[in-house]
Amino acid sequence: MGKALDGVRILDFTHVQSGPTCTQLLAWFGADVIKVERAGAGDITREQLRDIPDADSLYFTMLNHNKRSVTIDTKNPEGKLVLEALIQKCDVMVENFAPGALDRMGFTWERIQELNPKMIVASVKGFGPGPYEDCKVYENVAQCVGGAASTTGFDDGPPVVTGAQIGDSGTGLHLALGIVTALYQRTMTGRGQKVLAAMQDGVLNLCRVKLRDQQRLQRTGVMKEYPQYPNGTFGEAVPRAGNASGGGQPGWILKCKGWEHDPNAYIYFITQAPVWVKICNVIGKEEWATDADYATPNARLPRLKEIFAEIERWTMTKTKFEAMEILNRHDIPCGPILSMKEIMDDESLRKTGTIVEVDHPVRGKYLTVGNPIKLSDSPTEVTRSPLLGEHTDEVMAELGYSPAQIEALRTAGAI
Ligand code: COA
Repeated sequence: MGKALDGVRILDFTHVQSGPTCTQLLAWFGADVIKVERAGAGDITREQLRDIPDADSLYFTMLNHNKRSVTIDTKNPEGKLVLEALIQKCDVMVENFAPGALDRMGFTWERIQELNPKMIVASVKGFGPGPYEDCKVYENVAQCVGGAASTTGFDDGPPVVTGAQIGDSGTGLHLALGIVTALYQRTMTGRGQKVLAAMQDGVLNLCRVKLRDQQRLQRTGVMKEYPQYPNGTFGEAVPRAGNASGGGQPGWILKCKGWEHDPNAYIYFITQAPVWVKICNVIGKEEWATDADYATPNARLPRLKEIFAEIERWTMTKTKFEAMEILNRHDIPCGPILSMKEIMDDESLRKTGTIVEVDHPVRGKYLTVGNPIKLSDSPTEVTRSPLLGEHTDEVMAELGYSPAQIEALRTAGAI
């Protein structure tokens, strides 16, 4: 079966996490992704957080599936010519170097356009144009400057970063959408264009509801679904809301049976208004269904702490999975707090290809997250990440270099 992006060639000049997330997705959709790495060293993550000596780390292997690897010294004059040949042959260049690095290498937008006017140049940067445009940025910096950290955590504690890599992988996802959109536009205009996804912008986009709340707060001075209401105080900026749901349906994380020794024996419980009577019946507080102090969402708002404490008395008598089973029987929305170990062992995620076992010639078998986006006409087969420079000769031959020329470039240190 064909793939959605069959025939699209990507010059993957990315490293670390944000860029590689993007190009891995494009590879899963069928693009030929040629990862250009620094001769001799490669993507720095190959050796970061290693769990097996001398084997590419899980950090690298889990972000670079389905790609080919070529090593080129793009600061060497002959290496530059090889990169130029690749630019002429590819549809998209994706890069996430520090600001200005590509220009310093001699590959300005103008130069790339000269070489290939159809080329789409897609970049991840920490910030968009402005006072911080020259700054280097990593995941947690993006979470802090994009509004996530100031709005995550508990009111009486410091800002908190989340484990979800919304700065890196989140921005990679944004960039991938920009690239396929630019490819689509190119089918009509015949022209390439620049695509920029700034990590601050990507995080802020994912924190959209908090900018909503900032404006609500400025207008009314209070937000009733926040745990600060009615007993705490609101300042001038959106506060940290703990585990409150952030939407119109109050929710909180509650202890389940075994919480004393299992750090993940918890469930997220949503007191969705339409199922309030069922909630009252399940937890044995039938009288709350008709009591004017509890029967309506507005009446419940100032009593949420007490209500969740009562629900928790019930959840603590069940394991998180028992609670999930009972609550779902009554259509009550909830979510057990799954540990990575539980997710790793989840049979249904294996069946859908969301968790995949991959074999690697150096490190052996390992688990990875497969393509989270499923296309019915473009199935994903996850194949292992390339060894450093594994496809240099193959790609050079495709560019028209003879074995003797390849050997000479290797001797010159250009590849
Ligand atoms: N051959 C020769 N030189 C190469 C090369 C190659 N194949 N590939 C990269 N280089 C050079 C670059 O030209 C650059 O040289 P310069 O500094 O002389 O211009 C150098 O390697 C380092 O690249 P850089 O991107 O600056 O790496 P860094 O380790 O200094 O910074 C980041 C890393 C992630 C902070 C930075 O790349 C960045 O801010 N990227 C944008 C935001 C981003 O994606 N952050 C998230 C990462 S998950």
